[in-house]
Amino acid sequence: MGGLDYGARFVRIFKMKCYVKVYGCQMNAADSHLVSRLLADAGIREVSETGKADAVVLLTCSVRQHAEDRAWGFARTMRGRGKKVIVAGCMGKLRGQELVAEGVADLVLGPDEYRKIPGLLLGHDNLNTAPESFETYSDLLPAPNSSVSASLSVMRGCNNFCTYCVVPYARGPERSIPYHDLEKQIRYLISQGIREIFLLGQNVLAYRHGDMKLIDLLERAARLEGLDRLGFLTSHPRDLSYEMIQRMARIPQLLHFFHLPLQSASEGVLKQMRRGYSLAEYEQKIGWVREAFPDVYLTTDLLVGFPGESEEDFELTLDAVRRIGFDFAYMFAYSERPGTKAADMAEKLPVPERKRRLAELIDRQNEVTRRRAEGLVGTEEEVFVTAPAPRGQGAMLAELKNYRPVILNHTARPGELLRARLVGIEGWSLLAEPLAKEVA
Ligand code: SAH
Ligand code: SF4
Ligand code: F3S
Repeated sequence: MGGLDYGARFVRIFKMKCYVKVYGCQMNAADSHLVSRLLADAGIREVSETGKADAVVLLTCSVRQHAEDRAWGFARTMRGRGKKVIVAGCMGKLRGQELVAEGVADLVLGPDEYRKIPGLLLGHDNLNTAPESFETYSDLLPAPNSSVSASLSVMRGCNNFCTYCVVPYARGPERSIPYHDLEKQIRYLISQGIREIFLLGQNVLAYRHGDMKLIDLLERAARLEGLDRLGFLTSHPRDLSYEMIQRMARIPQLLHFFHLPLQSASEGVLKQMRRGYSLAEYEQKIGWVREAFPDVYLTTDLLVGFPGESEEDFELTLDAVRRIGFDFAYMFAYSERPGTKAADMAEKLPVPERKRRLAELIDRQNEVTRRRAEGLVGTEEEVFVTAPAPRGQGAMLAELKNYRPVILNHTARPGELLRARLVGIEGWSLLAEPLAKEVA
């Protein structure tokens, strides 16, 4: 190849502008930071408006029909505007053929094929990549979009096969990333000013590399200088142990935050879902968590309208919501996913009934959410400032030590730690007022 050829390529690289749109869970958000790195390394400019982009990359989700519909619609619109459209991620993997056949996407890729993106955008034909099912991207330094908080996938995939869930099919088998790679990534993030890191996995408690388990990983990461706040997501209740909680409680930087998806409070439904715990076990573990972390911010996922869920089953979930007192819940109506076990179950509930149950559940949880937040009004807390609030001049988004989000009615620098008083509630947000200057 001559110099001229290189020059032509150079020009083409700099002309390419790409917009990245993210759907789905935190893992997709973390994946988008890997994609940003891949684009930057290839000299492709990421833009923040579709109007300026030549190409659009969608990191998609298939967990519910609604998530697919949204991405599908966006991809179609972008293609209609003459953009090159790459549908990547979970829906790319599961519905790739249809997306191409229906003219919605130019190219489709699964969650283990992001390395192909720059080559596809630039029209290269050499798309050699690592064997897909072992892909971990552990050599890439993530390019986070927040200046003080970042997420890092410490494992990929899921082996659980809960009967309603498409994730194991979309993301493939579990793979944990070795500590030395994670340490490099964490040190890099710290060097970029990041002070809070979330370690991610669909079932992050199952992290295992050699002798190292998640709890060892948390303990070691916490010893890295400059990391002030450390969290982990998502925990499968079955895999949370008493010993783990005790060791977690001794990690000073660990956020007092547990996201423990319950899904349902009916033993029968939990069995049909193949969740691997009973309600009694779940509540026992919540007890351990509250004992070790009295100020815990406890969140959950709840799924109603699963095939065969009776009115009594549903009411058990309503009761549990009040009894357990979650600070916040992500609540969903069951959505049939082709290829999953539950899709073949008889006794499907009519969609309007699923929606009715969801609405009732949301009402119940809202009541609990509000009560839990009201209980904090008047208290003084340490708040960690993360970013300017989207609306409201001078206000900042901030987090308590237990990760509970608050709005600070004052300007402050992201990364600052302040003493603040919780003064009230506006909508669903707790409002905080700073008391004094930086405490740490
Ligand atoms: N790995 C996490 C969950 C990932 S999916 C865990 O095991 O907890 C996030 C949430 O989406 C799930 O907790 C569940 O509540 C919901 N979900 C998954 N599949 C669904 C489906 N088919 N219909 C409706 N909600 C679903
Ligand atoms: Fe889905 Fe269950 Fe895996 Fe969570 S643990 S991603 S719900 S299969
Ligand atoms: Fe959705 Fe894939 Fe996450 S299906 S929930 S984006 S792992």
